[in-house]
Amino acid sequence: EKELSKKLPFRGTKILITAGPTYEAIDPVRFIGNHSSGKMGCAIAEAAAKLGAEVVLVLGPSAVKVTEESMTVIRVVSAQDMCEAVHDHFRTSHVAILSAAVADYRPSEVASEKIKKKEGTLTLHLEKTKDILASLGAIKKDQFLVGFALETQNELENAKTKLQKKNLDLIVLNSLKDKGAGFQKDTNKVTFVTKDNKVLPFEVKQKSEVATDILDHILQYIHA
Ligand code: CTP
Ligand code: CA
Repeated sequence: EKELSKKLPFRGTKILITAGPTYEAIDPVRFIGNHSSGKMGCAIAEAAAKLGAEVVLVLGPSAVKVTEESMTVIRVVSAQDMCEAVHDHFRTSHVAILSAAVADYRPSEVASEKIKKKEGTLTLHLEKTKDILASLGAIKKDQFLVGFALETQNELENAKTKLQKKNLDLIVLNSLKDKGAGFQKDTNKVTFVTKDNKVLPFEVKQKSEVATDILDHILQYIHA
């Protein structure tokens, strides 16, 4: 029993994870999206499942192959779909890690037919999507809530503001400036900012190792 809890420290823990981009439809053949590969979130999901967690992965349109059989994968396309899937599972989860690159805006109307090319410019009206992470922060009870932040300026300050505003326990700041970090890459350079204002910078690492760092951090808190 003792050995098992060492090897499978997340046994009995339900972890909800989002990953990948979202696609927001413009018309039946076009969308607004982003370059997120989903690699970071999928790496967290696989590592958590290997450590014994009951994993629910809500995955946007991503080419990543998820190999771990023990987890539940819910495929979604839009921010709205992702939000609904996440709320279906949050109440029964112990930990939620939202690493998806959710579109901040979507077309306010989706054309039912393919938009034909015309003279002049085309204007699209965009409306905000719901902030999934903030909506969890607003209702969370005992869940340990983790967000990501992608910043190109005032990195730490902006990450701290996001942590507070969204009521998070941990925010993982992605450094895009670093050569070893980025959307399509297998490596990442992150800094943790904790609820109690600790700032923990890490070296450039494989995304699988970043995943383990995040899960190790969470373990310290949920078993404390
Ligand atoms: N996020 C979310 N739902 C959204 C937008 C963001 O759940 N509609 C989550 C992301 O998964 C990430 C965190 O919020 O964990 C921060 O995302 P980021 O894009 O860095 O911040 P925003 O709050 O969207 O602000 P901005 O893009 O203006 O920096
Ligand atoms: Ca955003």
